Amino acid sequence: MRRKSAEDIMSQKGKTPIVCLTAYTAPIARAIDQQVDLMLVGDSLGMVLYDYENTLQVTLEQMIGHAKSVVGASNKSCVIVDMPFGTYEESVDKAFMNAARVMKETNCNGIKLEGGQKIANTIKYLTESSIPIMGHVGLQPQSVLVDGGYIVRGKSKSEWQRYIDDAIAVQEAGAFSVVLEGMTEPLAAEITSILNIPTIGIGASPKCDGQILVTEDMLGLTNVAPKFVKQYLDLDKAIKDAVNKYSREVKNRAFPSNDHIYFMKPHIVNTNGKN
Ligand code: KIV
Repeated sequence: MRRKSAEDIMSQKGKTPIVCLTAYTAPIARAIDQQVDLMLVGDSLGMVLYDYENTLQVTLEQMIGHAKSVVGASNKSCVIVDMPFGTYEESVDKAFMNAARVMKETNCNGIKLEGGQKIANTIKYLTESSIPIMGHVGLQPQSVLVDGGYIVRGKSKSEWQRYIDDAIAVQEAGAFSVVLEGMTEPLAAEITSILNIPTIGIGASPKCDGQILVTEDMLGLTNVAPKFVKQYLDLDKAIKDAVNKYSREVKNRAFPSNDHIYFMKPHIVNTNGKN
């Protein structure tokens, strides 16, 4: 089976909605690979797996380690890896060195960068250097300390132009798709209709060309569930119930039972009746 490429994702625009989820580990990648078009090794792993307050502490080494697991445990979906804060803003050369390192060490299909017009030159340089790039505009978690925090974008029409210009800049720089995060439906619809590349929404309405969620959010494994998250499973409860049962069975010695213990070879008795 051939793994989906960034070009395959791009060609889905206007045809079939693009199904995306985050994956940070091999077990999750194995479980979702066959059912999604794209898996994002997002820097949200800092908050979800490491309990950081935001994504700013995430390192390139963490991203590479998790991306290797995800690529290794999958064979169908396109795998895109987030460049963490501080690894691409300083110069295009530094961005290229770090992005090339991620591509070489993980064998992923492409890279995601946060930002619009401000980092268009970097996106252009990377795409011209043969690295497929996914953009990310609207609410940018790496800028929450300076850009209004986790607030929905585009509530007033006077704000729209900035986000439209960001999305166009990302497209013109050569990105194969762009994440639209935390914005009103009319703004997401407007950007989606203007762009030739697919838009992938998170908290940005069904008007986008595809959707992405943090897998742990939709499985019910995280405490904070923003309005845009639909919880498809209560895995936290399922885990608690299972561990509760295990604990009771260990305490009353019902586990391990005969099904889960090793026996010696069957006892062989000689015909003369002696062992
Ligand atoms: O880091 C991440 O998981 C993301 C998605 C939420 C789009 O950027």
